[in-house]
Amino acid sequence: MLEVKAVNLKRVKVDTLVVPVCEDRELHTDKSVRSLVDAAKAFAEFKGKKGDVITLFQPAETRITRAVFFGLGKAGTLTGESFRAFAGTAVKFCINAGLPAMTLATPSAAELTINAETLFGALLEGACLGNHIFDRYKKEKEKKPVKKVVLMATAAQKKAYSGLVKSVAAVCGASIMAREWVTTPSNDKRPEAFAEMIQKAAQTAGLKARIMDDRWLEKQQFGAILAVGQGSSAKPRLVAMEYSPRGAKKTVVLVGKGVTFDSGGINLKPSGSIETMKMDMSGAAAVAGTMLAVAHLKPDVKVVGVMPIVENMVSGTAIRPGDIIRSYAGKTIEIGNTDAEGRLILIDAMAWAIKHYQPDTLIDLATLTGSCLVALGEKIAGVFSKDPELAAAIVASGEKTHERCWHLPLPEDYKELLKNDFADLNNVSSGRWGGAITAALFLSEFVGDTRWAHIDIAGTAWAKKASDYCGAGGTGFGVRLLCDVIGKI
Ligand code: BES
Ligand code: MN
Ligand code: ZN
Repeated sequence: MLEVKAVNLKRVKVDTLVVPVCEDRELHTDKSVRSLVDAAKAFAEFKGKKGDVITLFQPAETRITRAVFFGLGKAGTLTGESFRAFAGTAVKFCINAGLPAMTLATPSAAELTINAETLFGALLEGACLGNHIFDRYKKEKEKKPVKKVVLMATAAQKKAYSGLVKSVAAVCGASIMAREWVTTPSNDKRPEAFAEMIQKAAQTAGLKARIMDDRWLEKQQFGAILAVGQGSSAKPRLVAMEYSPRGAKKTVVLVGKGVTFDSGGINLKPSGSIETMKMDMSGAAAVAGTMLAVAHLKPDVKVVGVMPIVENMVSGTAIRPGDIIRSYAGKTIEIGNTDAEGRLILIDAMAWAIKHYQPDTLIDLATLTGSCLVALGEKIAGVFSKDPELAAAIVASGEKTHERCWHLPLPEDYKELLKNDFADLNNVSSGRWGGAITAALFLSEFVGDTRWAHIDIAGTAWAKKASDYCGAGGTGFGVRLLCDVIGKI
């Protein structure tokens, strides 16, 4: 769908040309585009201010059917994200108008404060991500994705960015896959089914994915995963996906929370909190998606994705508050609250992954706490790590990809809050505040000396409303972030 190529607007016929325009600077070097921008700005209603849009039909001395101009505001304020958003908006404009193809007039990076690679990458990403429509459950598919997006470029740029086109398509395709999984309703992704979806996608990408079933988990004494899953008629699974290039010197393990539905268990969630809990497998979706992208990106490190997958249900067989369970690592845990289930499945998966793979770095992603949402809102994830360099690398990748992260603390003295009279730990804090921190501290009890970071994506994994390059529903948050961070840690 994406292409970078030279387009001579004087010669070739173009159906839809989209043009980014600033109010204070000419961004374009192509003479035809420049005169088109002048023609657009001659109209009072279009000055290139942010949000301005105007369409010119069959502009004179061109073979263009329609040219659509999007105002971006002042040139000095523009970042990669501005162009991601612009490309996403332009693609959505075409989708809404029923236009099957779009040619994008690429601005000149020389007029901007970002470099050409950032610019091309952002435009390609925004176009690809903005083209995703989740309509699998609709009888009438009202809107069709665009079939082709061409970025205008010089011959040298075409050559320089052919690899970028491929990597963006792989990463954004994986991000879209994660979105699809997250938005899929829980009745169609119960643990066995979700594990199989991941395995199928892995096979298509040429990766090995192993599914461990409940009998295997019982034999190996994954007490915490099994405890969370025992209230559901659909038994837990553990999925491990491996990318193992020859000569790899380092191993990165990614662990993703895969709760296909979080009812809260006996501590049942109330109305207002329960409706979107099909998204509680977003960590696993992001990890699986990242693995699919990694299969294309081929970094020189070994990367393993580990996904504990369960359904947290309320029933006569469900775990009760006060129950004491024995985790895979051997520590016992009193269930203070059955709704704090994510940390339970994560610790078993992480302890197993550490034993099995001895990773140099372990990163887990989880929709872990409502408390993280309270702290950072819906657009920024919380990062926890005792390794400041690892945290900084994740935060930096978050800025670059605009999957933003904020480093939060892991204070030793707060561990006090997880003490329990009868078991080694309680699964919830005895206090009311700092729930994202105490959840992360609970996880920290199971990683030993392994270099580890935890990313709480409770706020960022799901969007109530559509935005520039993401529809309502699963956001795929974490895939672009992890793909960027893997090569840097
Ligand atoms: N899956 C939820 C966290 C969540 C909340 C994700 C909102 C997305 C949006 C998690 O399992 C949970 O229920 N956490 C509890 C923990 C509490 C019982 C200590 C929470 O945050 O309220
Ligand atoms: Mn819960
Ligand atoms: Zn949960």
